[in-house]
Amino acid sequence: MNLWLILSLFTSILAVKDYLFKPCEQNGFCNRNKHYSKNVESSPYNINEINFNSEGNFISGIIHKSLPSRTVKLPFEISIIEGNFRFKMNENRQDINSIVNINRYDETPKWAFINTTNDQFIYKNKEIIYRDHKVAVQFNPVKFTFYYKGKPQLIINDKHFLNFEHQLLNDSDLLPFESTYNTNSDDFPDSKNDKLPLGRESIGLDFTLLEFNHLYGIPEHADSFSLKDTSNSEPYRLYNVDIFEYETNSKLPMYGSIPLLVTSKPEVSLGIFWVNSADTYIDINKGKDSSLVHFMSENGILEFIIIIEEKPQLVNYQYGKITGFSTLPNLFSLGYHQCRWNYNDEGDVLDIHSKFDQFEIPYDAIWLDIEYAENKKYFTWNKETFPNPEKMMSVLDRTGRNLIVIIDPHIKTGYQISDELLAKEITIKDSQNSTYFGHCWPGESVWIDTLNPNSQSYWNNNHLQFMKNNKNLHLWNDMNEPSVFNGPETSSPKDNLHFGNYEHRSIHNLYGLTYHESTYKSLINRNSNIRPFILTRSYFSGSQRTSAMWTGDNMSKWEYLKISIPMILTSNIVNFPFSGADVGGFFGNPSKELLTRWYQTGIFYPFFRAHAHIDSRRREPWVVGDPYTGYIRDAIRLRYKLLPVFYTSFYINSINGTPVIKPIYYENLDNGDIYDIDDEFFISDTGILVKPITDEAESKVNWIIPDDSIYYDFTNGVLSGVYKDREYGLGDIPMLLKGGSIIPMKLRYRRSSKLMKYDPYTIVIALDKDGKAYGELYVDDGESFNNDHAFIKFKFENKKFSYCIDGDYLFKLEKLIINGITVTNFKNNTIVDFDIDYHDEL
Ligand code: NOJ
Repeated sequence: MNLWLILSLFTSILAVKDYLFKPCEQNGFCNRNKHYSKNVESSPYNINEINFNSEGNFISGIIHKSLPSRTVKLPFEISIIEGNFRFKMNENRQDINSIVNINRYDETPKWAFINTTNDQFIYKNKEIIYRDHKVAVQFNPVKFTFYYKGKPQLIINDKHFLNFEHQLLNDSDLLPFESTYNTNSDDFPDSKNDKLPLGRESIGLDFTLLEFNHLYGIPEHADSFSLKDTSNSEPYRLYNVDIFEYETNSKLPMYGSIPLLVTSKPEVSLGIFWVNSADTYIDINKGKDSSLVHFMSENGILEFIIIIEEKPQLVNYQYGKITGFSTLPNLFSLGYHQCRWNYNDEGDVLDIHSKFDQFEIPYDAIWLDIEYAENKKYFTWNKETFPNPEKMMSVLDRTGRNLIVIIDPHIKTGYQISDELLAKEITIKDSQNSTYFGHCWPGESVWIDTLNPNSQSYWNNNHLQFMKNNKNLHLWNDMNEPSVFNGPETSSPKDNLHFGNYEHRSIHNLYGLTYHESTYKSLINRNSNIRPFILTRSYFSGSQRTSAMWTGDNMSKWEYLKISIPMILTSNIVNFPFSGADVGGFFGNPSKELLTRWYQTGIFYPFFRAHAHIDSRRREPWVVGDPYTGYIRDAIRLRYKLLPVFYTSFYINSINGTPVIKPIYYENLDNGDIYDIDDEFFISDTGILVKPITDEAESKVNWIIPDDSIYYDFTNGVLSGVYKDREYGLGDIPMLLKGGSIIPMKLRYRRSSKLMKYDPYTIVIALDKDGKAYGELYVDDGESFNNDHAFIKFKFENKKFSYCIDGDYLFKLEKLIINGITVTNFKNNTIVDFDIDYHDEL
């Protein structure tokens, strides 16, 4: 490795440097779209032709862009997909002599959607009518106004920011307010080699949201839950990058992108799904009465979907019908995961494994980072440190534990796998269509092109040979932005080529998804009846179907604990619930108090994993010593007690998209004060309300009660009387339970989730003002795709507890806890009568 490389490698692992990432001003397309939006006088886009097909499910037409010298014809389409408005606009380009596919990339839905069928609708008098929605179409200039509940809710191109950078025929083929900044070259220091073979090709569009002031979504950013006004700052950027030591409260891009922006007000919730996988910026301007959102992308066709519904849950449902819901996770993966970079060898792994039992702390998975493979050559084991991995896995398996190992998309040059990738021509290519070589953990590497359909069978074989029949072996896909240490913005050059000769520029934000989906298919190919577990760092719309994600390389500081909650809430409301942050913080060494509070927060992350950098000190739960170890043990055990709640919440999410951790505004849209709360949340619709302590030496919690229900103190998962202000010691986990809720729990300590399988349930009942309560439980074998299950609905009304079971699966009741009173005098699986005065405990 030459000195330059060593230096550049070294600098890339120091703190995040703003200069490594392009600000809008220096990013050609963003600069030009901002210039356009500031200077446009009147929109040059007019609908010239519009045809409604005879089946009544499709509009096609031509939009004219009027230039001084000619008219550019832009074909467009309107359809209704799963009950939502979909718009697409493209251009017919003239061929140029180039290796690059000159067509605008229009295959983002192929990766992001599971459904593309068109519903019927009515089009007459320039109005599109579907369900109880209406869209008024203005032709000159083009503008769409969306009506719902008799009122306009959204206007598109009201501000005339619609910008479709057409293929230039000559230098004067432009409108006076179109800029030429960085049209054919890139001034940004690290991107100077970008050849921009197709020149400028960006798109931009404005969305005016009427009477909406609280906007959310468009992850991934380490920022507040409620999106900020960007009028005087950088726009939010979506560009999947390996952002080492990211800063909090920042609009810089991070590892994943979901271009779904959501907003709510009483009676109306709305989603803008910007279907584009290229580099994207989003400007937000919050006015007194409305909000203006400006999406800008570097290339691709212009495509978006508008979802308008009565409630935010229904937006989740609609979006889920298009992009798919999360697959119900393998139950073990909802347990506790113990990771660090690295557990060094088999002895180390088995020692950690047995310490959990010695300290009576449950766990479900232990992880191996990049050092397990020989010289970071994935699909191999370092024979000195891991001579007998199968034996190690079988020891773990005895107590239901799993092993998760990392396989990244960069493949070291000079060994069998990379040789074969080269021979099969399934690597990412450079701008000249030769294999692209770059640097990552193993040194010089090539990258598998998982957009290439020929990659899959090869990847299947590698996984088969490596994973064999080890049923408790699962995978971690990291660095799949892709991270390239010597690439621009630590990623692949944008003019690299993928299958179909599409530029990397067009598909950048979905490469990570193609990689982890390819892993998923390989695991299904290995065993089609075990639900695979895959953790991915990079993601896109649709990733929720096959993977979990985490928020990458955070730090052992209080501010990172705090920001983890809005980040994970954001992921939940854009249908990617299986999310978590490194408990304890990746870089650095947490204080004992911080570590304790982090576990107490982490037990509510849908994905609950502790992880640490190679240079950080060991910090497994017993290392801190008592009383901290005791507090951490209690926290982890509480997660296990609540596993039925989490599993049921994931089940509900898998059928209708309800967030697993849910912002409190979802519970009461009429309460204008709770929309921006981002340090308190519900677990799904269960009524469990959580507000983790994320400040040092804090013992008070400022509860925000979303509605006028009774809320009970549920500290540490123990139901007591109606909640009052109280102190929370370091061993206390602040929780409330909403009156009217019934919670299924499993209270016995076991070493892993698998060993809890036959344990009976304790049903916790918190009565509402009328003495009623309801709840749900989903049970199945927790690991296969068999459909044997039971869905149980609990009810408490008229002093009588009852339940009904749909399906047939192991369900044993042990006791009820009603407003804090334990009741055991009933027979299993029968309806029972209680004669207790529930008011006693109020
Ligand atoms: C970067 C990941 O974010 C981190 O979690 C991991 O430990 C390192 N890569 C090494 O694989």
